[in-house]
Amino acid sequence: MEPVGLRAVGSHCSLSEMDDLDLNRALDRPRLKIERKRSFDERSMSELSRHDSPRGRSVLDTPLSSARNSFEPHPMMAEAWEALRRSMVFFRGLPVGTLAAVDNTTDEVLNYDQVFVRDFVPSALAFLMNGESDIVKHFLLKTLQLQDSEKRVDRFKLGKGVMPASFKVSHDPIRETDHLVADFGETAIGRVAPVDSGFWWIILLRAYTKSTGDLTLSEAPECQKGMKLILSLCLAEGFDTFPTLLCADGCSMIDRRMGVYGYPIEIQALFYMALRCALSMLKPDGDGRECIEKITKRLHALSFHMRNYFWLDYQQLNDIYRYKTEEYSHTAVNKFNVMPDSIPDWVFDFMPLRGGYFVGNVGPAHMDFRWFALGNCVSIMSSLATPDQSMAIMDLLEHRWDELVGEMPLKICYPCLEGHEWRIVTGCDPKNTRWSYHNGGSWPVLLWQLTAACIKTGRPQIARRAVDLIESRLHRDCWPEYYDGKLGRYVGKQARKYQTWSIAGYLVAKMLLEDPSHIGMISLEEDKLMKPVIKRSASWPQL
Ligand code: GLC
Repeated sequence: MEPVGLRAVGSHCSLSEMDDLDLNRALDRPRLKIERKRSFDERSMSELSRHDSPRGRSVLDTPLSSARNSFEPHPMMAEAWEALRRSMVFFRGLPVGTLAAVDNTTDEVLNYDQVFVRDFVPSALAFLMNGESDIVKHFLLKTLQLQDSEKRVDRFKLGKGVMPASFKVSHDPIRETDHLVADFGETAIGRVAPVDSGFWWIILLRAYTKSTGDLTLSEAPECQKGMKLILSLCLAEGFDTFPTLLCADGCSMIDRRMGVYGYPIEIQALFYMALRCALSMLKPDGDGRECIEKITKRLHALSFHMRNYFWLDYQQLNDIYRYKTEEYSHTAVNKFNVMPDSIPDWVFDFMPLRGGYFVGNVGPAHMDFRWFALGNCVSIMSSLATPDQSMAIMDLLEHRWDELVGEMPLKICYPCLEGHEWRIVTGCDPKNTRWSYHNGGSWPVLLWQLTAACIKTGRPQIARRAVDLIESRLHRDCWPEYYDGKLGRYVGKQARKYQTWSIAGYLVAKMLLEDPSHIGMISLEEDKLMKPVIKRSASWPQL
């Protein structure tokens, strides 16, 4: 397995061999335009020589991407760029991130005046796609420094590799200098550490490397160490019997109690993607070699587990419905002892004959049948989903458009929890009432992930439909954080306005559609070495 890690990033030739997209498959755009574009790797090569030079672009410059447009850009693009630039945070004069929201309509700031690691990802991608990589580099380095600080909740020390959920720059007017203050979960609601932050950090490091061709950052000893520290939290041997990662509720984008403890799909998909990104960047020297070996083994086990046990389609649902329980020994079919009676009624109506998805959670006697958008989109981007499964997820989105997209892309999960279930599962959380916020709310930020999944599967027309919906409202509603209601018709009860990731998510989606070669930054091709999954669904061969 050895040189793969190094070579993957060490030469452009292998970069393209390993995980670049077959553009012809992804595009349904006129040929002329495609041929005019430089290929992704060509761009990386030409930027290699100038990656570190300050571009000196002013805060309100016309974005490169709209200037390149062959058609009139939507007026929302210019406004979005301005709003994104207004959210920029500086540390001792250098841009290091973007605020979660710049909402001047309310005094209630909470922690939206901080730079969240997960929220910065779409901002970073927008900047990278626009050729502005400095802010991303500074962000990666600053958060890496923060990883080094001591983290405690009361008297308990957190693992060394934990990355912050968010940080803020505080200015000391007497000493006339800036300090960074980070939150690793010790001040967060529920006191949960962000498991997703470290994964996003690794994914972003690869995106930066792919986009700029600057290998010096990911190869720097501190970045190599940072990656290993993050992964050592997940690769340590213990009592686990599954390759999936055991998590507390609220440890990712859904950062409040929502019944996503155990093995949530969002974390498993990000885990898989981060492992693959790290594999392409880790150097096989010293403890790097051992880490690479562990990653390779884990990837095999994880993809097998996810593709088999998390996958649900019509055929699989029918199999679970007929499951026997209390099976013992290696011959068990119902390995986790899932009780067919626990299958919720809605899923029988929801499941189309064609299509499928990764369910929310699988554990002992536990199957959460809810659909979660982020985990499914990331599964496509990372190729955790096989090509057939990716297509089936897109089929489901098309079949269940009203439920999953409605009037505002995209439902964070489906369906919502109501009544008794809501009381038990959320602990009576008034922010997560039915069809609101994390409980079936619609989050515009998810548009970029949907778009990436659409482009990866060669179905950009689905993303265009979603973009049209966003363009009919988002700017008029002042870029809310989320929408409420079964169709996502209402601006969220407690939604921030000018939520940065809603703004950046829109920009990323537009730029991806405009130049699909950007997908290489955030997508990984299928790992040919991975054993094919046993086909169990009648719907797959037809796809
Ligand atoms: C909310 C969201 C979380 C996000 C944060 C900042 O807490 O649940 O995912 O990172 O706001 O926008």
